[in-house]
Amino acid sequence: MSFHVIEQAPARLNRSELAVPGSAPQMFQKAAESEADVIFLDLEDAVAPDEKADARRNIIKALNEIDWGTKTMSVRINGLDTHYMYRDVVDVVEQAGERLDLIMIPKVGTAADVYAVDMMVTQIEDAKGLKKRIGFEHIIETALGMQNVSAIAGASKRNESLHFGVADYAASTRARTTIIGGVNPDYSVLTDADDQGGRERHWGDMWHYALARMVVAARANGLRPIDGPFGDFSDRDGYLAAARRAAVLGCEGKWAIHPSQIAMANEVMSPSEGEVTKAQRILSAMAEAEAAGKGAVSLDGRLIDYASIRQAEVLVEKARQIAAAA
Ligand code: GLV
Ligand code: MG
Repeated sequence: MSFHVIEQAPARLNRSELAVPGSAPQMFQKAAESEADVIFLDLEDAVAPDEKADARRNIIKALNEIDWGTKTMSVRINGLDTHYMYRDVVDVVEQAGERLDLIMIPKVGTAADVYAVDMMVTQIEDAKGLKKRIGFEHIIETALGMQNVSAIAGASKRNESLHFGVADYAASTRARTTIIGGVNPDYSVLTDADDQGGRERHWGDMWHYALARMVVAARANGLRPIDGPFGDFSDRDGYLAAARRAAVLGCEGKWAIHPSQIAMANEVMSPSEGEVTKAQRILSAMAEAEAAGKGAVSLDGRLIDYASIRQAEVLVEKARQIAAAA
């Protein structure tokens, strides 16, 4: 291990993150009763410019009046390039800061963007005497944000998670895509011809580099990497495939832009019973070996190294969090 200790963000379940437009208060109660781990009430792209002020009022009222239970509550503010943003921060933190856990910062481009919001939030919290510090989630969804992702990840003690905003990322990088979070058959490999001249086309994951880069920056700074939206909510298989790819790369959660996606995210992002049992067996084998004064640990005829022990610990801890939340 490096001498540099990675401080971990507060442990929160973040398997599913439900997006709810601030301009649609009729959806709030259902969201509160859903199985989503995190809810973000949106002031940004799901809200039209002439509805911003109403949406802000709706969100403040809802944070104060609706029983959100133990859910982690977030508000997506507008981008730092708009004049809505300062009032989003001031009004929401001043008037509903007690129930707000996180602020989601869209289109973050540089570490200075994070610094600016941190400065504002700190002043408001101090002025209001708020005890709890509000955390930050950042959407990495521009070429600039991706270029500076490591600096952004390390820019504030409030940082908790990085989110891959595939829709805006595609717009910013001018990637060729039509469905949010979907794949493009042109991003494929054609095999060489076989004896009969036959060739196969293997589709690739055009988001692999971006997501993997974001996961590394998040983990190197103790943050949760979260995969963003999948637009076609009638395509359950497409959603599941995208969520599984993200989970394999190390993401802890995925957005749900429709309530029907929540259960799928929770399922994919939870360790299976088999995985948890195996992890528990690894930890017991380690404890037994330690008690017997043995250095090397083996299970089912295989040597267990310290990396597998650390993975087992992470899994068992995740299972404990899920059980506690149930
Ligand atoms: C999310 O905000 C996205 O642009 O994908
Ligand atoms: Mg976006």
